[in-house]
Amino acid sequence: MKKVAIIWSSPNIDGLTASAKDQFARGLSDVGAQVQEIHLNRQSIEHCRACGNGWGTCNKKGMCVIRDDFAAVYQTLAEADGIVWISAVYWSDMTECFKAFFDRLRRCDATHNHFLAGKRCVLVACAGGTGRGTLECLTQLERGLTHMGMRAYDRIPVVRYNRDYILPALYEAGRVYVERLENGFDMYY
Ligand SMILES: Cc1cc2nc3c(=O)[nH]c(=O)nc-3n(C[C@H](O)[C@H](O)[C@H](O)COP(=O)(O)O)c2cc1C
Repeated sequence: MKKVAIIWSSPNIDGLTASAKDQFARGLSDVGAQVQEIHLNRQSIEHCRACGNGWGTCNKKGMCVIRDDFAAVYQTLAEADGIVWISAVYWSDMTECFKAFFDRLRRCDATHNHFLAGKRCVLVACAGGTGRGTLECLTQLERGLTHMGMRAYDRIPVVRYNRDYILPALYEAGRVYVERLENGFDMYY
């Protein structure tokens, strides 16, 4: 059975982002994946202090000096076969909450641990305003993934305009993702 972590961020538990997450999770579960949801807004995760001269223990020991929920979430991602990254779009970017986690994760993983390298991921950005900035958000997420050696296999924009047809597609995307994790992604990447 494949373990898939869905890491997501929006303060709204019944908004567009949560709906996208629910659809994806349902698709995953319906084909037998073990799904672990991580709602970043409910975690206690400080932002990076850039201790030392910019590099602290992150690139030397692969760990962060701040004692909060960061290490436990990192561990869950490291143990997952697949990771789905879902953020609300704020200022054409991931949420502040997501960024705080992402920054610390990248420092530990890209420079020292490489626990996440090679993970095959799906990215989803949910913009409930004009929809502008969705692609930039996906690009930012993918840039971070690339720093950590992960690979994105899909980048899905969710906006108010496409809500009615993209939510059912996210359900299908969850099903297909598990099938690909089990049988391969059929591309050199
Ligand atoms: C600080 C802030 C910045 C935002 N920036 C954007 C944006 O750049 N583009 C956009 O389409 N919507 C933007 N929005 C709207 C969010 O994307 C909207 O809240 C979206 O529905 C998030 O999903 P939710 O329903 O889970 O809250 C912004 C909202 C906030 C609070």
